[in-house]
Amino acid sequence: MFYLTTAIDYTNGAPHIGHAYEKVLADVIIRYRRLRGEDAYFLTGVDQHGQKVQQTAEREGVHPATFVKRTTKQFLNLWEKLGVHYDGWAETTDPRHKSCVQGILSDLQQNGQLYKKSHSAPYSVRQEQFLQDRDRDESGNFGPQWGEVNIVEEENWYFKLSEHTGWLKSFIESHPDVITPAFRRTELLNALERSGDTDLCISRPKERLRWGIELPFDASFVTYVWFDALINYISFAGYHAAPDAGLPNFEKLWNVAGSRSTHLIGKDILVPAHGIYWLCMLHAMGFPDAQIPRLLVHGFWNSKSGDKLSKSTGNIVDPNVLADSFGVDALRYYLMRDIVTGKDSDFDLDRLVMLFNTELANETGNLCNRALNMSQRFTDGILHHGAPFTSDETALQASLTDSTAAYQAAMDECDISRGLEAISRHVVHCNGYAERMKPWELNKDPANHERLATVLYHLAESVAHAAVLLSPILPDAAAKLAAQLNLPSLTSLKLADLHWGLLPDGHAIGKPKPVFPRIVIEESAQA
Ligand code: ME8
Ligand code: MG
Repeated sequence: MFYLTTAIDYTNGAPHIGHAYEKVLADVIIRYRRLRGEDAYFLTGVDQHGQKVQQTAEREGVHPATFVKRTTKQFLNLWEKLGVHYDGWAETTDPRHKSCVQGILSDLQQNGQLYKKSHSAPYSVRQEQFLQDRDRDESGNFGPQWGEVNIVEEENWYFKLSEHTGWLKSFIESHPDVITPAFRRTELLNALERSGDTDLCISRPKERLRWGIELPFDASFVTYVWFDALINYISFAGYHAAPDAGLPNFEKLWNVAGSRSTHLIGKDILVPAHGIYWLCMLHAMGFPDAQIPRLLVHGFWNSKSGDKLSKSTGNIVDPNVLADSFGVDALRYYLMRDIVTGKDSDFDLDRLVMLFNTELANETGNLCNRALNMSQRFTDGILHHGAPFTSDETALQASLTDSTAAYQAAMDECDISRGLEAISRHVVHCNGYAERMKPWELNKDPANHERLATVLYHLAESVAHAAVLLSPILPDAAAKLAAQLNLPSLTSLKLADLHWGLLPDGHAIGKPKPVFPRIVIEESAQA
């Protein structure tokens, strides 16, 4: 079982392009795993508690519960629109999640992992955390990223994080594949060197924050939002759940020999939340090393000027608008094509249009039109394997074999962009082949009919393979191509079924219709 989760998105505002990227990436990875024939389970959802939600709701004059219902719906609608298909949906206000969090808190309390103490320190409202000296800039001030900073004195509950950081350091050192990419692992190890022996404050007094999960052993406090949110990965996987709770069987999902569950997260929440707090929380709960999850850390989409595309700076590219204007295929393709998993990229609308028009409309679209239209016009829509193959056909088949192998190697490493390049290479090869073989010329002389059939068959067979390989990234387009090839079962094939000859001799194809129409920007839209 391949169990993949994403970060759960904050519901203190509308979804932005970074959220869309992460969920589409997870969706592509899951679809690819299924294409490989693996069992896979995908959990995503929303993070609904915390001070930021409480404050935004107050500003808008509504109860936080009403407010998060509204924003949660925006995320649900977006995933539906973008074809993001998840198996489990996490909402942290779900009573099943609350009882799991409270159960874990009680266990930790009973095992002596929690204690109460009084503390006075600078506190960042924006980041919902107490600050330390290492958070000051060179001039000794707290920078603008912390927002308003006040000295706050209060009693709180603490988790004995420092009892687990020694274990964490040696665990990370001895399991290099647990944090990918590797430079993020280095970043985490460096942070661990600096972190010293501080414990984690896991409560907020109710005078300051009401919108959270009450501590089961001290009713004047709610749980710190990160401590609550991180637990979603196991609460919605059925950890300590009642058998009739409608949740998965935890043993089958999480606790599978030889396969760690994977958390897909952005680079900003590796240190300290996932890389330190969460792994130490699991260790404190008694999870053995073999059941510690893998962290797959992706980069950020930035605006061209280099600013973060984040809610707090108000610099958001709205994925809804992009999907409505350019289509879901164009958006999914761009988000997967123009970034290397792990690295950052600049969001650039011109490149979105350019990549769709060149790689999909011109190259892939051209191949599909040639294969399907010419077969319809020249051979009545019937594919014949045709005359003996020449070195041109041998080369085309070798190109497909190479591209498929390169695709698989890239996709196995979650390098979707390189996977797409591999498909493109074969598509470009096919278009070169079509230009050299000139089926439109072959059609002029009945003596060349066998040869013509061979050429068209090679193009159509290539489209069939391309549809399957593209299906994790562009599931709708792949399904349309399969329908036009008159093989709806095509997209249920597994990678291992991709041998030459998917389209049988004598196969009748369906009616062709362009799947990747060029994006035309009108003058008024450009202004
Ligand atoms: O951090 N580019 O929620 P969030 C790419 N609720 N990814 C981005 C991004 C960008 N410009 N901006 C944000 C939270 N992300 C917590 C998570 S998990 C138990 C709790 C990513 O809505 C970000 O890195 O701020 C994170 O993985 C996800 O979007 C949600 O961010
Ligand atoms: Mg964030």
